[in-house]
Formats: sequence, C-alpha cells, structure tokens
Amino acid sequence: MTSSFSFPTKILFGAGTLSELPKHLSALGVSKPLIVTDPGLVSTDAFKSLEKISGKKWAVFSGVHPNPALEDVEAATAAYHSGKCDSVIAFGGGSALDVGKVIRICIKRPDQPLIPFDFDADWSGLAPCITIPTTAGTGSETGRSSVIIKDGRKRVIFHPSLIASLVILDPKLTLGLPPKLTAATGADALIHCIESFTSPVFHPMCDGVALEGIHLIGQSLARAVKNGGDIDARGKMQIAAMMGAVAFQKDLGAIHSLAHPLSTFCGLHHGTANALCTPFVMKFNAERVPGVYRRVGIALGLNNPDDDATIEHVSNLFREIGLVPGLRAYGVKESLLDAMSDQAFEDTCHQTNPVPVTRSDLRSLYQQAL
Ligand SMILES: [Fe+2]
Repeated sequence: MTSSFSFPTKILFGAGTLSELPKHLSALGVSKPLIVTDPGLVSTDAFKSLEKISGKKWAVFSGVHPNPALEDVEAATAAYHSGKCDSVIAFGGGSALDVGKVIRICIKRPDQPLIPFDFDADWSGLAPCITIPTTAGTGSETGRSSVIIKDGRKRVIFHPSLIASLVILDPKLTLGLPPKLTAATGADALIHCIESFTSPVFHPMCDGVALEGIHLIGQSLARAVKNGGDIDARGKMQIAAMMGAVAFQKDLGAIHSLAHPLSTFCGLHHGTANALCTPFVMKFNAERVPGVYRRVGIALGLNNPDDDATIEHVSNLFREIGLVPGLRAYGVKESLLDAMSDQAFEDTCHQTNPVPVTRSDLRSLYQQAL
C-alpha cells in the first residue's frame, strides 16, 4: 500500500498578524486585490481593521450569501474583472472564503462552466489568494475545496490548486463574533476533528492533528462562547479550526452527510446542522464499533473515556453552548425527511464513516434528531 500526504500552505498566526498583509501582497508580486466578503461583515470591527490597512483603496465584493450559490461566484468574478484586480483577499467565514478561493477558477477559464468542474484541466497559475478567516470553524482558509450550491445542491469543487497562497489567522478578528456563531462554527470545527479522526482512511499524520484539535477545542470552545473577548480561547479555536480542516483531508463521516441537506432544504447554519445530528451518529457508530471514540475521550481529558462518556461529554458541551438537539425547533418538518435522506445518501461524506450507512440508516438518524 502506498499513501500520499499533503500539508497546507504558509500560515501566519497571532494577534495583530493582519497588519502584515501589505508586506505579503508585495511578496506575492500583487497590488490590486479584490476583497471578497459578506454583507454582514462590512460593518464589523474586523472589516474596519482591514480597511485601515487598505486605506479603502482595494476593490470590495461584499455580496456573498450564507451557503453561497453559483450566482455569488459569478458576481464576485465580475467584480474582479471590473476592478482590474490581480489577486484575491478572501475575508470572513467559510462562505466568503469558499467564494474567494474558487473565483480564481472562473478567472482563469472564463469560457468554461464552473460546475461540473473539470478537475483534469490545467489549474496552475491561479490568481494569488490570501485567506483571512473571521470565524473559527470551517477551516476553509487552509482547504483545497469550495462548497457552492447549484440547482439546490451543495457541490464540492476540489483541486489542490485551490489552496490559498497564504493564510492569516489573527484571533483579534474573531473577538466580535456573536456567541451563537461562535458556538455553531466551533461545533463544526470539533466535528471535523472527530469525524476525520474516526474515519477509517489511513492517514496517521491527520490523526495526530485531529486529536490535538479536539484537545484545544475541549479547552476553549465554551470559554470563547461565554466570553467573546477571551483572546487565548479565540486563538486556540482559530488554530483548532484550521487543524480540523487539515485533518479532514482524510474525509469526514455521516454527520456531514446529514448536515448538508439540512442547510440546502431548511437553511440551517452548517455548524448547527452538524451539532444537532452529532449525538445520534456517534451513538450509531459506537454501537457498531465499540471503542471508536475512546481516543476522542482521552483528547477531551475524560478520566473514563469510554464511548458513552465521550458521547455524553460532547452532547453536554453542545448543550452548554446553546446547541440543544431537536431539529423541529429549527423548522425541519417530518415530511422533508425522505427527500433529505435521498440527498444525504448521495452525499459522499458518509462513505468514510467508521461504519457503512444505508439510506434507511440516515432516515432513522434524521428521525431521532427531529
Ligand atoms: Fe463542516
């Protein structure tokens, strides 16, 4: 058996690292970046810090929607051309980062549709892109894929060339993130680490990264939700979220397959959707692979890290930060479960679940999570 391991790009971490942005743009040989972000961010302190650095001279596209669609990518690409830009600064949560990364594909090949994505085309020499997250969750800043909705379905556009030229992790930028979003995005990060660690794919380097990510999140997620100004907790969450995305090169599991239709059908935040399904999937997996969560429990610092205790600990953590199970409270109707189960089964994430799942398993998990 042979394996291929890839690790991400240059990452700058620390409070205040945003101020180094101009120096790094110069090092990349560019001077006219397009800032890609979402409308909610432009009035935040995080965005004001960026404007202070840019002197408001850089072009801005702030039209990225949550769960971005192909139309967002097309509009951002048009803004890049009309601003005669030479690079991208993807600034915000996972949606803005995903759109910022992927417009470089459309810029390189304007005559080709983005979806279906032509993986085998020559995608070398994409426009330089610096990713700067203002949440700690998706880890999209270090990822090599973007999730874009077309015709009501989430499509994953993956290519090694999509990796950012540089990642700036400045925990100061996450200080203003409201508790609800801190909780949802942080839960996503934890689930990335848990699902990637327990996926059966052989990748011991990612396993180590995932376990340390779990450890850091166990120490800091509740603190970051309760006290948004806790810079130490914010920093640990930012690092751990990035590590979660590095780890999920191994792939994810059934929690993510269940979560994706909850966003496309019912508009749930991705992290919330994941968190509300997590205890049920963990129980399902532990019943079939006893001990599967033991090392997750150890990473979380449990004295008796058996499956039940680990599942209870994770469930309690989610409750503590306001992610209480019960999909109905989020507007999910029983009448949608069949169609969502079809989509969840078509989603490829569950193929690397610790145990195989059928469509009817997924239907039953939705029912339990309802
Ligand atoms: Fe996720």
